[in-house]
Amino acid sequence: MSKHTDIKKITVNTIKKMKSNGERISCLTAYDFTSASILDKAGVEMLLVGDSLGMVVNGYENTLPVTVDEIIYHCKMVKRAATNAFLIADMPFGSYHVSDEQALENCIRVIKETGFDAVKIEGGAERAGLVKKLTGCGINVMGHIGLMPQFVSTMGGYRIQGREGHEKLLADAVALEEAGAFSIVLEGTVSSVAKVITETVKIPTIGIGAGVHCDGQVLVFHDVFGIFDGFTPKFVKQYANVNEIISEAAKAYIKEVKSSEFPQDIHSF
Ligand code: KIV
Repeated sequence: MSKHTDIKKITVNTIKKMKSNGERISCLTAYDFTSASILDKAGVEMLLVGDSLGMVVNGYENTLPVTVDEIIYHCKMVKRAATNAFLIADMPFGSYHVSDEQALENCIRVIKETGFDAVKIEGGAERAGLVKKLTGCGINVMGHIGLMPQFVSTMGGYRIQGREGHEKLLADAVALEEAGAFSIVLEGTVSSVAKVITETVKIPTIGIGAGVHCDGQVLVFHDVFGIFDGFTPKFVKQYANVNEIISEAAKAYIKEVKSSEFPQDIHSF
């Protein structure tokens, strides 16, 4: 029996039902225990340990260097904190590309070692066979189409997708749905194309830079709470400026250490 009385664990059925009930789905990335705990208690329905951790946590230029071990390391922290949210692990570049066997081994390892609810892989129709095998093994799969950051080298940068029409992306979304994916991330996609896809497939679409018509939205933790002080992409709404708050607090701390204002008697034994 659970020691928590207020747990309302969100399952894959909850997520699917939210679409049929017309209820929008909130998703954010999380990479550690403390942030996952805050987001879970706030009521975010899905937490994604994204390979974006390569950029916002590790400081890499893009997501390509991230390893399965790193994803597992961060998933374990998030799992310890999140009791309600549906948890999704992003499969990093190279972990599902060599063969279906390699992909199955890595996805099974991630699910076994982290206790997460689902994996996410980038790619459309070309991944349908793999998605079918994974779901056949009992693994929930979230697809990811549109702008796919793991293709940054071949795309020659981050490019908005769907400007030439909706046919290719719609076919990808339908292929993923037919293969058994429970949901699809639509990243960096023209809003009208995201609308057509969302109205066509029965599984929820989760947008990031794909407009208001998706069934849910996902943003990166460091973007949404203003932890970076640099460039903020157009599709990000910054709901707080934590960078400024920490920076001001750090300056106050430094000043008080130097002037011996801190620590006072109340902080001393
Ligand atoms: O890695 C990530 O954080 C992602 C989301 C932005 C969808 O893939």
